[in-house]
Amino acid sequence: MVKEAIVTQADNFVDRPYSPMVTRIYSGNSAGLFFSNGNIWRRQRRFAMTMLRTFGLAKSSLEQSICEESHHLQEAMEKEKGEPFDPVPLLNNAVANIICQIVFGRRFDYSDQNFQSMLENLTAMAYLEGSIWALLYDAFPALMKHLPGPHNGIFSNAGSLEASIRREIERHKLDLDPSNPRDYIDTFLMEAKKNRNSQLGFDDGNLVLCCLDLFLAGSETTSKTLQWGLIYLIKNPHIQDKVQTEIERVIGQTRQPTMADKPNLPYTDAVIHEIQRMGNIVPLNGLRMASKDMMLGGYVIPKGTTVMPNLTSVLFDKNEWETPDTFNPDHFLDAEGKFVRRDAFLPFSAGKRACLGEGLARMELFLFYVSLFQKFHFSTLDGVELRTEGITGATRTPYPFKIYAKAR
Ligand code: HEM
Repeated sequence: MVKEAIVTQADNFVDRPYSPMVTRIYSGNSAGLFFSNGNIWRRQRRFAMTMLRTFGLAKSSLEQSICEESHHLQEAMEKEKGEPFDPVPLLNNAVANIICQIVFGRRFDYSDQNFQSMLENLTAMAYLEGSIWALLYDAFPALMKHLPGPHNGIFSNAGSLEASIRREIERHKLDLDPSNPRDYIDTFLMEAKKNRNSQLGFDDGNLVLCCLDLFLAGSETTSKTLQWGLIYLIKNPHIQDKVQTEIERVIGQTRQPTMADKPNLPYTDAVIHEIQRMGNIVPLNGLRMASKDMMLGGYVIPKGTTVMPNLTSVLFDKNEWETPDTFNPDHFLDAEGKFVRRDAFLPFSAGKRACLGEGLARMELFLFYVSLFQKFHFSTLDGVELRTEGITGATRTPYPFKIYAKAR
């Protein structure tokens, strides 16, 4: 039924529903990329996808940036000198820096204070947006607006992030060279000149919101998938060994991995897919709204109804997966050990509103995982059983955990 809603009846469920919280964060115009609807959404989605292709996916530049960021991540892990540490801040740094390269045209040192405060705001905002406080705000906006409480953090975090992004935009305006656009901001500003009166969202206000969405949708999700990967491979050391043996055989210990290695690493590829299936990072997907009265799975859905296309029901469907509740890379391998695609693999959703960063996220997951498992053996403290339940909010977050990274 999920596929019927988001693919077969794509046009009927393409819009996001109204949310008082979102309307307040997005200054009343509900634009940006994630929550916008209609022509603005269509045009801005197309623009962002073209831009992602131009600044990376079609060239090797992004692949190179991810590999360089992997080196910074490895160096930061080496500094832990074999002592147990929390990997989350380091993974957040690395993943956010990839979005920074695309949006701002530069990366930040992990010790940069402004970068760290941006990340703190992002993490707090992602947590609060998925919490009971966001639900309460959307249910009783007139009351909650006047009450003290953690929900106010959503707006102050968003405000701080928007201010940081606005500073970057002003900096870009000072030395923008139209013959050599460096990143998303430059390209957007040039497009804004061409589309000044077109009502398609090419204005400074919406540029801030689109950048905010790229950070919100693109960093927490990828970082949390990497976190789940460490947890599942530490819990299944025989699978970690097999991944390392395959990487050793195909790439060795010193050569930098590239995307061209992927077809030669079918076991590693299957493991990454299984991490995404079990990690189930966006369990409830993005909310959708029925655009007219219609039938879905035999039920009448009136116009305006909010629909939650539950991805958990697909990723753990007993009719689709041989062992739905067990971490099992064989779900993505045939009898000869070749990689096989599965129709029920939908962590990025599907249809017209599916994740627009899927290509980038897949590249990041492959290159970060391969370079980390090439260099380190990961384990946790003796006697500690890492938890796989997760804290469910807008995204599914692992409980805090510590790891050892032992150089191989
Ligand atoms: C493992 C990483 C990721 C996962 C699991 C993921 C998953 C998702 C899901 C489930 C949706 C909702 C789709 C729907 O409503 O049908 C979504 C939307 C979106 N994602 Fe991702 N995502 C990931 C990484 C990224 C990255 C790296 C970017 C940024 C470049 C990104 C940008 C977006 C945007 C902008 C949307 C809104 C699309 C729209 O409404 O048209 N995501 N993502």
